[in-house]
Amino acid sequence: MNKNNLQELVTKIQQKHHQDKGGKNASYIPYLASVPAQLSALAVVTAEGEVYASGDSDYGFAIESISKVATLALALEDKGSETVRRKVGDSPTGLPFNSVMALELHQDKPLSPLVNAGAMATTSIIEAKDKEERWARILDFQRQMASERVVLSDEVNESEQTTNFHNRAIAWLLYSAEHMFCDPMEACEVYTRQCSTLINTVDLATMAATLAAGGKNPISQKQVIKPQNIPHILAEMMMEGFYEKSGDWAYTVGLPSKSGVGGGIMAVVPNVMGIAAFSPPLDSAGNSVRGQKMVHELAHTLGLNLFLPK
Ligand code: DON
Repeated sequence: MNKNNLQELVTKIQQKHHQDKGGKNASYIPYLASVPAQLSALAVVTAEGEVYASGDSDYGFAIESISKVATLALALEDKGSETVRRKVGDSPTGLPFNSVMALELHQDKPLSPLVNAGAMATTSIIEAKDKEERWARILDFQRQMASERVVLSDEVNESEQTTNFHNRAIAWLLYSAEHMFCDPMEACEVYTRQCSTLINTVDLATMAATLAAGGKNPISQKQVIKPQNIPHILAEMMMEGFYEKSGDWAYTVGLPSKSGVGGGIMAVVPNVMGIAAFSPPLDSAGNSVRGQKMVHELAHTLGLNLFLPK
């Protein structure tokens, strides 16, 4: 597909869905409840670094759980895949992102680095001498995968740090079962900060494109992730990126993807492109309703399902 046609398609799909009804902003984090629900954006960044975008694509929204992918990538760089598997896990839970029952069922081992428990455990294995270094390395990694525009929002962070009691409980449960590898409140605080950065839809598509391009950010041209770690990250995204709806997404769209309760979604088409969508109203699993429709329609129209026979 040529450049004009791809831009037209991105615009057409974003405009088709931008007034779709359904879903509700996350409200357990007060900041997220106040983000205008009508915002929506769709963006593509190709593995060669071409950018296509439509809608509110420069609006900075809270990255939330999509940050788990960047921290997983950094943990793989630091420790290698076998250590991450052994200490955190590698399998889907089939349960909501903050489920305590998922821990109960598996001797308090998180299983997946992409649920809250596993993400905090992953944060705890990042190499760092103290909390500030742990945070600085994670923020820097988000920026390297996406763009220098990614910043911590004090407003989002304050809103989350003062309401994250459930995650604190999970962090202590992990600690009691020896599945937490630094001070549990340090891991919870740094995890909460990593969820509180603002990213726009183009930069989120760049993060996905870095994964699509074998770990090289196609805009900065910097190799950020070792190519051998990419299959592990994409496997986790396919299995757990949409939580208990990951199976539906794999069945219908067939792309490794990750959602956040800020309304963002990124999807990876290996060797081809990163796709990102944003719109705040969420379904019951915490995935953007319009975002899913936009990514699904774009992927379907372009025949991008990885499981399609050639
Ligand atoms: O820890 C939390 O609950 C939030 N900071 C992030 C959760 C999230 O984004 C789940 N994703 N869809």
